[in-house]
Amino acid sequence: MITLKELQNNQDIIVLIEQADMYLSALGYTNHGLDHVTTVTNRARMVAEKIGFSPADVELTSIAAYLHDIGNVTGRENHSLAGSILAFQILLKLGFPMSELCRVVTAIASHDEYQGEITDNLSAVLIIADKSDVRKTRVREKILTEFDIHDRVNFAVQFSELIVIEASKEIWLNLSIDSQASPVMDYFEIFLNRMLLCKKASRKLHYTFRLKINDSILY
Ligand SMILES: [Fe+2]
Ligand SMILES: [Fe+2]
Repeated sequence: MITLKELQNNQDIIVLIEQADMYLSALGYTNHGLDHVTTVTNRARMVAEKIGFSPADVELTSIAAYLHDIGNVTGRENHSLAGSILAFQILLKLGFPMSELCRVVTAIASHDEYQGEITDNLSAVLIIADKSDVRKTRVREKILTEFDIHDRVNFAVQFSELIVIEASKEIWLNLSIDSQASPVMDYFEIFLNRMLLCKKASRKLHYTFRLKINDSILY
């Protein structure tokens, strides 16, 4: 079966990820390109390993994470569904076995916060890895007065880490937010839904999602 490494070295897929990101760049979104998908892939792999996925499922989760945002190439709305169809065609052409292929496609299709249903563990891990990727370095270069609320909140997140504690079955998202750059309430205004989804996804994995912002434990 094709590996994540091979996909990461596939120039056509790199072009697709970059083109999808260019589309969102034109709309003024934060980075959804190689920088974002690499972070999500690394986080998804880490979570999958720590919670005890088999090596084959760790690889599948990482592949779903790497490809999860390619659907933005056709537009933001329904990008999770478009991405799942694109991934289906790409992986089928690369000889991916159908049973594994279907699981990757379901995870990609399920990652959108408004349309996604968490029906399996692979989708749950992808959602946690994706929705937790909030950080300063995702903000594109633009002048401060042009920042929208997403830019402001991401820009204010100086530090972000995702930790899995197997012993207590907890998944922690620790953030340091510069409240001068953006009030913590702004974070909740745009990310409450994503945090609730992380909570739901963690529950699916029989873990508890914990959120710490600065020195306050919020969940
Ligand atoms: Fe997405
Ligand atoms: Fe994403």
